[in-house]
Amino acid sequence: MRRNTAYWDYLKLDRLLLLQGGVEGDESRLAPDELHFIVSHQVHELWFKLVLKEVRLGRDHLSAPRVPEEKVPYVVHHLRRACEIFRLLTEQVRVLETLIPQDFLDFRDKLMPASGFQSFQMREIELLLGLSEDDRAAGPLGDPMEEILRLAQESPGGDFVRHRVTEARRQPTLRAALLEWLHRTPIQGSGPGDEGDAEVVDAFLADYLAAVERSTAARWSQVQRAYGPAAAEMRWQLDETLGETRAFLQAVDLPEEERARARRVRAGVLFIESYRELPLLAWPRLLLDTVVELEQLLVVWRQRHARMAERLIGRRTGTGGTAGVDYLDQTARPRIFRELWAVRTLLLPRAAVPPLRNPESYGFAR
Ligand code: HEM
Repeated sequence: MRRNTAYWDYLKLDRLLLLQGGVEGDESRLAPDELHFIVSHQVHELWFKLVLKEVRLGRDHLSAPRVPEEKVPYVVHHLRRACEIFRLLTEQVRVLETLIPQDFLDFRDKLMPASGFQSFQMREIELLLGLSEDDRAAGPLGDPMEEILRLAQESPGGDFVRHRVTEARRQPTLRAALLEWLHRTPIQGSGPGDEGDAEVVDAFLADYLAAVERSTAARWSQVQRAYGPAAAEMRWQLDETLGETRAFLQAVDLPEEERARARRVRAGVLFIESYRELPLLAWPRLLLDTVVELEQLLVVWRQRHARMAERLIGRRTGTGGTAGVDYLDQTARPRIFRELWAVRTLLLPRAAVPPLRNPESYGFAR
C-alpha cells in the first residue's frame, strides 16, 4: 500500500536544507552574513531553472510549422510566468542590499574565482532566448561560456555543467522560433506562399515608409514652431532616424541573400503592431508585448544587479575577474529581439497608418 506523502518528503527538504554549507561544507563555519549570500544565490538559481522550463515550453509551442490561433495564448502564458519571475528577482535584490560592504568583505575573497559570471543557467537563458555569441559581453579571458567550460574541467560538478552547456548550445532559440512565426504573418491578407506576395510586402513597406516621411515632415514643422532658430540643431536627429528607418525596412544591415526574408519578418512586426486592434492580431500583438517585456525585465534585472554590486563593492574587480560594475553595465546593452525594439522607433499614430487592405482576412472589417 502506498504511504501518505509528507510535505518534507515531497520537497526533499532533508536534502535541500543541508545544501548551504559553502566552501567549508559546514554551515556552522560560515561568516555571519554568508548564509544570506548563499540562500540569495540558490533562490535565484531555482527561479532560473523555472525560467528555462517556461521559455522552452513557450518556444516549443511557437516552433510548430503552423501555430494554430489557440496555441498563441499558451506561448504568452509561459513567457508571462518567466516575466513575473524576473520581476520578483529584481525586487529580491533589495534583500541582498541589506549586506553591509564590510561584512561582505569578511568572506568575499574565499569565493574567488567563483562568481555569478559562471552562472551557467543564466548563460542557458541567454542562449535559449537567442543572444548571439557576438553580442555576449566578453570577460577578461574572452567568452564567459568558454571560461565556464575551462573551470568545469577541474570542478567536482564539472561534468554536469559541461553536459548542460553542450545541450544549451544545440537547442533551438526562442528568437529563431519567433522570427519563423513572424515570417508567416499575413500582410494585407497575403501569406509567404501566395502569388505576388513579395510585391504585397514591398508595397506595404513602401506605403509605411511614405507615411513615416510625411509624419517626419509634420514633426519638423512642429519642432520649428516650438523651438524657433534652435530647431536647426534637431534637424539631424530627425534625418538620422529617417535614414535608419529606411535602412531597417529595406534590411540593408544584412547580407543581400537574407534581406527578402528579413523584410518580411520586419513587415510582420510592423503589421501586427500597426493593426493591433484586429481580432486575429490580438494574441499575436500580446505575444510581441510579452517578448519585449521579458527582455526588458531581464535588462532591468541586470541593471539592478549592477547597481547593487556598485553599492556593495564600488569599482573593485569582480571575483570572476571582470572589471566589475563596468562589465555588468556592458551586459545590459545588447538587445536579443532587436526587430521588436527597432519597430518602436517608427510606429505611427493610428490616423497616419497606411490603409488596411483585405480586412476580412483578420476577422473584422474596419
Ligand atoms: C553581494 C552580492 C553580489 C555582488 C557584489 C555581485 C557582483 C557581481 C560582479 C562584480 C559580477 C561580474 C563578474 C565578476 O567579475 O565577478 C557579477 C556577475 C554576475 N552575477 Fe553577481 N553579484 C552579487 C550577487 C549575485 C546574485 C545573488 C546573483 C544571482 C544568481 C548574481 C548573478 C550574477 C550573474 C548571472 C552574473 C553574470 C552577469 C553576466 O555576465 O551577464 N549575482 N556579479
